[in-house]
Amino acid sequence: MVKSIHGKLQLKPGLFKNLQLGQCSFGKGVFAAEDIRSGEKIMEFGGSIISSAELPYPYEAEKDYFLQVGQDLYLGPSGTLDDYVNHSCNPNSAIRINKNTVELIAISFIRFGDQITFNYATTMNSNWGEFECACGSNECLGMVKKFVDLPEPIQKKYIELKVVPNYILAKIKNI
Ligand SMILES: C[S@@+](CC[C@H](N)C(=O)[O-])C[C@H]1O[C@@H](n2cnc3c(N)ncnc32)[C@H](O)[C@@H]1O
Ligand SMILES: [Zn+2]
Repeated sequence: MVKSIHGKLQLKPGLFKNLQLGQCSFGKGVFAAEDIRSGEKIMEFGGSIISSAELPYPYEAEKDYFLQVGQDLYLGPSGTLDDYVNHSCNPNSAIRINKNTVELIAISFIRFGDQITFNYATTMNSNWGEFECACGSNECLGMVKKFVDLPEPIQKKYIELKVVPNYILAKIKNI
């Protein structure tokens, strides 16, 4: 993590797999340009770290390039591919938040040409960022909401995959 000229903490983006920007029914998306095995690191997210007070209000889903990475911390856009990874209720990747990096990890085998998605809810514990989902999967919940709003078996699945950040785990210790 480095400080930008504005004094904000800044994460550097990084690509670890061959990826391609493409189009889907709800805008741009990121697609695999090679096969990716479950567990492999796909990319590191970059951007400036900001607090919730600096988020744009009112919320507009089409302008949402912010990823919650802490209790009151959000990672802004990087201007690179990581800005375009879409949400799915049945995703093939997941976010892992470390001390100095925010990684996207494959959680199933991803074939060349597949769209890469993660479940946005896994990092969300505020209402900012809720929108209507159009992922089209059989498991679609209709809305993207906070982690605690996910059905318990789905919460459990992500906890077992170790992709639920500590600021959310701290609130749901009873599961
Ligand atoms: C980080 S951007 C992803 C890139 C975006 N598709 C684009 O073209 O710029 C997040 C926004 O994409 C849209 N989006 C992502 N996943 C979606 C989904 N499953 N259903 C509907 N819209 C989605 C929403 O507007 C969301 O706020
Ligand atoms: Zn969905």
